Amino acid sequence: MPDLIINGYDVTLLVRDGETMLSAIVRSGHTYRYGCRRGGCGVCKIHLVLGEIEYERPIDPGVLTDDERVLGICLSCRAVPVTNVVIELQEGDRLRTALSSYAAAAGNSRVPGHTSPDSEKVVERKAT
Ligand code: FES
Repeated sequence: MPDLIINGYDVTLLVRDGETMLSAIVRSGHTYRYGCRRGGCGVCKIHLVLGEIEYERPIDPGVLTDDERVLGICLSCRAVPVTNVVIELQEGDRLRTALSSYAAAAGNSRVPGHTSPDSEKVVERKAT
């Protein structure tokens, strides 16, 4: 199982086989800015600093450009680490504990779920 390290925070997570980065972070009791969780809005973009990910489920091609992919930007709700990875959250975003997030949401009943593998598999690498 790959490690996921979030730059700027003292957080290292274990990612389960086939698990997205977003699911691993939420499962660990943390949260950050995300939206649809289905690869369709782009709100969950993060910067892949180091490591390799793959997309096991489709993403909207209009949400993540080729230029962004080259720069290491990925959709954390669909990106599954295949090696240890180091990521950075978007500028202006911050990692929060789920408890403070839910308290801030005050009445938001959205409960994060898990994704399951699908047919599309695209591997992306970020060199050091
Ligand atoms: S949360 Fe919408 S694309 Fe990831």
